[in-house]
Amino acid sequence: MAICSLDSQILFANQRLCGLTGYSESELRQLPPEQRSLPSDLARESQLLEQLLQGNVENVSLEKKLLRKNGHFLHVRKNMVGLRGQEGQLVSLIAHIEHLAPRKEAAKPAAAQIDSFASTVIGILEAERKRISLELHDEIGQSLTALKIAIKRADEHAQNAEAHEALNQARLITEQLMHKTRTLAHRLRPAELDELGLPAAFCSCLNKLVLPPETRVFFEEQLADARFSPEIELCCLRVAQEAITNALRHAQATQIKVELVFEHDELRLSVRDNGTGFTPPTSSDKHPTAGAPSPLGLIGMRERSLSCGGQMLINSRPGEGTEILLSFPQPQKRA
Ligand SMILES: Nc1ncnc2c1ncn2[C@@H]1O[C@H](COP(=O)(O)OP(=O)(O)O)[C@@H](O)[C@H]1O
Ligand SMILES: [Mg+2]
Repeated sequence: MAICSLDSQILFANQRLCGLTGYSESELRQLPPEQRSLPSDLARESQLLEQLLQGNVENVSLEKKLLRKNGHFLHVRKNMVGLRGQEGQLVSLIAHIEHLAPRKEAAKPAAAQIDSFASTVIGILEAERKRISLELHDEIGQSLTALKIAIKRADEHAQNAEAHEALNQARLITEQLMHKTRTLAHRLRPAELDELGLPAAFCSCLNKLVLPPETRVFFEEQLADARFSPEIELCCLRVAQEAITNALRHAQATQIKVELVFEHDELRLSVRDNGTGFTPPTSSDKHPTAGAPSPLGLIGMRERSLSCGGQMLINSRPGEGTEILLSFPQPQKRA
């Protein structure tokens, strides 16, 4: 696996890729694309990449030869997906490289490969989010607290009104930064989920929604304080967030009902809206062909659910609203 800049320079490579190519990570970071590929593969790859950069497709995949440090070639499949920033702009690319030679006969169908690639990417992104969130909370958050205490001390010894005024300003700015850091850390990985559980995390997330004036969101839970594995709890929260975002963005819904129920050893999440409805994609068109944009929201929800043992259903028809149903039969409980 590698994370690359938009001009295909490697920014990060995992140990497996280093092992496959025989290069160290720092060597890979300095290696220009033309020294990793054959010219014919490079031309094909840059055409596909162009599609990704222009937003025509969300992921691309090609079989190619990868040049190893010892001069030999490896036959690989390279899957690439764009990583987007806050405003939806492409910021970098994640490349998943699969060595094909040893298991060519057992090659998986393309759709299954994209499925497992998507769930790998979701896992990597979630782990990275958690790391950044903890760092924001622990490192920057604690430094800001220390800064605030230092400002208070300086204020106690300040001699004149101007110094008091300047230090008061510094205190206010520090408090704003503390608030912004907490919000950002929370957005990346809701702390309530680990500390207080699903209902608190749901309430906190619903309270932060910015709703059109005519829209109401209702939340009901019957979990009886049951706790589930961190992956399952995070999956419920993320699926609900995407389903609610979709209802607000696409459906012009005026009512969104969110329900979390644990009964008969089954955990169920339902997000129902009374909006425009749509024709849900079938399994055969869930990976649109090149040229058509392939939105990742519904695919991501499904992959995330499957990866922790859940099943997701979309009940929708044009004009009849939408229900997203996620169920975990015998969900893994929190250890
Ligand atoms: N609740 C909904 N109501 C109406 N249409 C929806 C709803 N959810 C999804 N859709 C349709 O399905 C498409 C794919 O959704 P999604 O995969 O989340 O991608 P995105 O939100 O980025 O468009 C949307 O573009 C929209 O047309
Ligand atoms: Mg969406």
